[in-house]
Amino acid sequence: MSQSQKYIVTAALPYANGPIHIGHLLEYVQADIYSRFLRLQGKDVLYICASDMHGTPIEINATKAGKKPEDFVEHFWKDHQHDFASFGIQFDNYYKTHSVENKELSEYFFTELKKKGLIYLKDIQVMFCSTCQRTLPDRYIKGTCPKCSAVDQYGDICEKCNAVLKGVDLINPHCVICDSRPVPTSKPHYFFKLSSFSSQLSDWIQSSESGLQQEVANWLQEWINNGLEDWCISRDAPYFGFPIPDSKKETGETKYFYVWLDAPIGYISSTKNYCDKQGLDWKDYWYHGHVQHFIGKDIAYFHFLFWPAMLMGVGIPVPHLTVHGFITVNGQKMSKSRGTFFTAKQFLDLFAAYALRFYYAGYLDRSVVDVDLHFEHFKAVNNNVLMANLGNFCYRTLSFAAKNYGRVESIAVEKDMILELKMLVEEVEKYYAAQDFKNAVKTILKISDMGNVYFQTAEPWKRKEEAYDVVGLCVNIARTLAILVLPIIPTFSEKVLGALGETQLLWKDIRFDWKGRVIDPGHLVERIESVPVEKIFPYYLVLGHIDEVKDHLGAEHLFMLKVNFGSKIGIRQVLTALKKHKSRSEFEHQTLAFCLNLKPMKLRGELSEGMIVAADDGEHICFLRVEGGVVGEELVPEGYSVGSGMVVPDDFKKVPMVVEKGRVLFEGKVVGCSKGPVYVKGIKEGAGVF
Ligand code: 2FM
Ligand code: ZN
Repeated sequence: MSQSQKYIVTAALPYANGPIHIGHLLEYVQADIYSRFLRLQGKDVLYICASDMHGTPIEINATKAGKKPEDFVEHFWKDHQHDFASFGIQFDNYYKTHSVENKELSEYFFTELKKKGLIYLKDIQVMFCSTCQRTLPDRYIKGTCPKCSAVDQYGDICEKCNAVLKGVDLINPHCVICDSRPVPTSKPHYFFKLSSFSSQLSDWIQSSESGLQQEVANWLQEWINNGLEDWCISRDAPYFGFPIPDSKKETGETKYFYVWLDAPIGYISSTKNYCDKQGLDWKDYWYHGHVQHFIGKDIAYFHFLFWPAMLMGVGIPVPHLTVHGFITVNGQKMSKSRGTFFTAKQFLDLFAAYALRFYYAGYLDRSVVDVDLHFEHFKAVNNNVLMANLGNFCYRTLSFAAKNYGRVESIAVEKDMILELKMLVEEVEKYYAAQDFKNAVKTILKISDMGNVYFQTAEPWKRKEEAYDVVGLCVNIARTLAILVLPIIPTFSEKVLGALGETQLLWKDIRFDWKGRVIDPGHLVERIESVPVEKIFPYYLVLGHIDEVKDHLGAEHLFMLKVNFGSKIGIRQVLTALKKHKSRSEFEHQTLAFCLNLKPMKLRGELSEGMIVAADDGEHICFLRVEGGVVGEELVPEGYSVGSGMVVPDDFKKVPMVVEKGRVLFEGKVVGCSKGPVYVKGIKEGAGVF
């Protein structure tokens, strides 16, 4: 008996450390579409995932929440499963990395690699925070990237240039927990000999078998050409993770597996957990099947270098990988302050899950480009494509058939059309198999377009008797569409197929001679009436520190200020006429609000690149400050984003900010930053800000 090909499909294991949001969902939808497609093809496929439960952020957040890490992660383990299910993401197993299976397998990997001489101990410099009394893992140190000079980068990876870093590499480091400067200390740690895998990894990248996306292959080759460094796989206590066997004996203190060692092993241990329950053998999948990971480009380094090398080291075949780009919302990084950050639950309060699945599918074509969830576009796709094309065809066909005939018994003979339909079905299949869901959607829409035109031209409402078999064919097209689109919008398919009394269909059940009873499917797609709009604040207000005050030699009434706006903006010169109202000492060394999106101008030969903003009630003039505010901090009203345009001084009258109870309000919202609200003192209610 020939066994059907076995598949494992995975999406990255999300940290059990916060809610699932719409950014996460792209990948889970992508992997879900692919695994549903394989299932539809009758393949033996397991969609495997788990909570990634270890590491310092979880340990620290659990402590902050007053919980044991074990209990803290358990909450998110359940919460995430609920969210995924509500988006139709159908895992075969959703397990945990903090599990017996994962501990055993991590120890197995470690001891196997060690036996082969691929793991060794070495003294290294780690960063120690004497205030917190702990070794600081890389993500608990921030500073300037030594490779590209980007500021405010974590100690593990530079988000700007993608360089893999160590905490000790950072320039001007500070402790993320307490802000003090950590000091380097020497400690023994375990290393995995990644360097000895360069040529094996290179061969893999170049083999046709690897099937890498071209851009990914290029990054990888570049990383390898630049020289691979061995990888530190241990961490010091306190750490939420698995203790490393014999580490106490070998180093004098218990070391823990770095979260990124046991996380990918979690793919296997979740498979094992499932297989043990089902009486299957996980090795049949991992040694003899096809393993397909879906990941985001931010974790490519771990999945294309460390993970394959570990697998090569223990002799497990290297999986297939697909990388997707980042999610942006309305063209920008998701942001809470801009009102573009939505958790899975918040999103479902506004829209249906299928609308997001359909939208994402329309973008996913196995290239690494970023995906923009643009809300106006999202609405248009839902209303004008999903609803007006696919939904409309299926609904009008089935409801017409149900109402007028109740059954399909004869089907129009349209040889050419059916031939074309069959070709399109084959195309859809080819696209799905290539993970090109974007073109699968396009082709599916071609079919529903054809259906719509055919139905419309036949005008069955005018000649019900004669059109019986035309509608019969349309019902068959709707049935086919429901199967084709099932991986993407399974709830839609269920409704359509439910109206035909069909369940559990496979790809091979696609045909154009189906006969049987038809009932009304009910609403298939809800129209989206409105989408969240971003509120724009026209002023780019930033806190700056006045380093120096000088007289303008050519203009008596002007001061020239040298203002520091922090590393992102730098030092700017700002001229001010408030010299009339305030003394030099009232400016010197003050941290105040400035408006920076005015056109720079020259005043008697000196450039002014900004303006002090101040409240003015006609009697007093008062600067805008923030308690504990630091330079570079942007000041925005709650729920607003800063516009990208320039303003002119007159705008401050037309689009005003006003003072109320010592606060500055814009359209009723308090202007402030992460440190707190802007305040003004000694000024009348209702004063304007200019
Ligand atoms: O980046 C992340 O969110 C990780 N938790 C992904 C882990 S994927 C796998 F290696 F476990
Ligand atoms: Zn500290």
